[in-house]
Amino acid sequence: MNEKGSEAIERIATKVRQHFEGEGTGHDWWHVYRVWQLSKKIADETGASLYVVELGALMHDVADHKLTDPEVGERRLIRLLEDEGVDPETVSKVLEISRNVSFKGAYVDEPQLSVEGQVVQDADRLDAIGAIGIARAFAFGGSKLRPLYDPDIPPALHRSFEDYKKSTAPTINHFYEKLLLLQDRMNTPAGRKIAQQRHRYMEDFLEQFFREWEGAG
Ligand code: ADP
Ligand code: NI
Repeated sequence: MNEKGSEAIERIATKVRQHFEGEGTGHDWWHVYRVWQLSKKIADETGASLYVVELGALMHDVADHKLTDPEVGERRLIRLLEDEGVDPETVSKVLEISRNVSFKGAYVDEPQLSVEGQVVQDADRLDAIGAIGIARAFAFGGSKLRPLYDPDIPPALHRSFEDYKKSTAPTINHFYEKLLLLQDRMNTPAGRKIAQQRHRYMEDFLEQFFREWEGAG
């Protein structure tokens, strides 16, 4: 990447940081920061364009349905990139990443992603699992006033994005509805390797959670 490209990325990172300041559902600037750093690491040996990967990572949640009206978010995303002189072809690649990166339900087909999109998706998914993933899930659930767990409400594997979006289930259900499925859906060898270790950590957490639920000392 040339010097102009790296300077644009730094300026865009500053603006994205301002945009996500104070976000309280686990999608704050530090989530974006971690996805950005992990994306750079995973991009090694994939042949992905680092410029598109970095912009894709920085922008991936700006238009997310959980945080904003996606149309308003997309206009903001485009303006942010254009204001920093990003060329139209790159803008459309970043927009495509932002539209396709999100998980949409256990039985919902995943769109084919560009290699840059695959890298950003892996990094985003890695931040949803492991220790940080556990912390984020409960931060998200708390922000929506959801219980930790309710033994009377079983998890559901969703067949449509609409149903997945509508779910108001307790946070433990989210592990079965999404988080434990991610290990088998990684795109890159580097992402898969990190996912395996983070997956085991979540399994240990759940085992202990259920032991404590039944009063284990
Ligand atoms: P994606 O685009 O795949 O949804 P994000 O980075 O936008 O990924 O954030 C997903 C994270 O939001 C989850 O991994 C989890 O931490 C949180 N989240 C989303 N839905 C729920 C839910 N129903 N219960 C708990 N956490 C949730
Ligand atoms: Ni994200």
